[in-house]
Amino acid sequence: MKNENSAFSRSAEPLLDLTALRADTPGCEAVIHFNNAGAGLMPRPVLQVMLDHLQLEAAIGGYEASAARAAEVADFHASLAELLGTRPGNIAFAASATHAYTKALSAIDFRPGDVILTTRNDFISNQIAFLSLRKRHGVRIVHAPDRPDGSGVDVDAMAALMRAHRPSLVAVTHVPTNSGLVQPVAEIGRHCRELDLLYLVDACQSVGQYPVDVEQIGCDLLTATCRKFLRGPRGSGFLYVSDRALAAGYEPLHIDMHGARWVAPGYYRPVATAARFEEWEFPYATVLGCAAAVRYALRVGLDPVARRTPALAGRLREHLAAVPGVRTLDRGPAPAALVTLAIEGWESEPFKAALDARGINSALSYREFAQFDFADKDVQWCLRLSPHYYNTEDEVDAVAGAVAELARSAR
Ligand SMILES: Cc1ncc(COP(=O)(O)O)c(C=O)c1O
Repeated sequence: MKNENSAFSRSAEPLLDLTALRADTPGCEAVIHFNNAGAGLMPRPVLQVMLDHLQLEAAIGGYEASAARAAEVADFHASLAELLGTRPGNIAFAASATHAYTKALSAIDFRPGDVILTTRNDFISNQIAFLSLRKRHGVRIVHAPDRPDGSGVDVDAMAALMRAHRPSLVAVTHVPTNSGLVQPVAEIGRHCRELDLLYLVDACQSVGQYPVDVEQIGCDLLTATCRKFLRGPRGSGFLYVSDRALAAGYEPLHIDMHGARWVAPGYYRPVATAARFEEWEFPYATVLGCAAAVRYALRVGLDPVARRTPALAGRLREHLAAVPGVRTLDRGPAPAALVTLAIEGWESEPFKAALDARGINSALSYREFAQFDFADKDVQWCLRLSPHYYNTEDEVDAVAGAVAELARSAR
């Protein structure tokens, strides 16, 4: 892997060597990438390991190539275990965060009347999956209320709902896709552990942006992708499964020959580890790219990343708060690096296209992405700008300037 160690400062302060980190990121030369909540820019070591593996597959054969790289493939589980404070046997590869999430849901034997307790800010696809479970199995979906100031779920009220309903599942998105809100997942986890409730956390936007420790959160299941703040490739994700959940026998509905042994004509036995949630076929170049991305994040250091990334977003919010016609929408005491804004006088796509034309990558969210949150905020769409640690203060200022100029032009 080329340049593997080039981007990491040896000294404690400053913790991030931005020049080297940016030199390690080819995309930095081409765009101002403020769509890390969509997909982060891959650093060179991630790209290189994937290209090398595809070449190896072409040269010696796909099965032979994965055998030749078995140790590096195994590092997918080992690196994520290190990142999340668990063991490799508690990690399963998935094709996306949603794939991991639905596999996890499929392991729960929902009965009519069972309750899923969630929040008003859980990810759109999770909410749709709950509605689908309601349609098929007659589960009840209970949404815990938010605090009156909109700064996230009311944990006391949620705990009271846990006691009242004894839900079959408590499901919380750590940082939703539709704003920079950070939900108190560890506080919620303490109640789940106290009441012995199955707890599933969607950490898709928080892994790679903050240190995420599954023991500290107290979750049984946790899902994320590798392509966002971890800066891995698209088409990847993972599921963490606690020892508790493995020992209790949770297994996906559609378990395959990788997840189970067919030990007799009429009997299969799930494997002991979270591999029971995987499938036999892996996109090996992608898996290797993910492992390289996680190792890269570990070397950069999640503590400095967690200091810098939300701080860049904070600087952007501060600039934008002063712009007439722009309303920043993120709530909570310490929002994450997802800056969402409503812009007066513009339609969504032309606004984004105008940013694209200036070489600024952004994303759009629509009312249907966040039925509760966007109704509360009275918006039909918003622009999402999501910097990462490798972005610069100058880029933040340039993006704020471009948004301000466009917002002014509509008035
Ligand atoms: C909070 C959250 N959860 C889940 C997902 C789904 O991830 P994937 O597209 O990998 O299924 C996203 C994607 O944006 C997300 O923001």
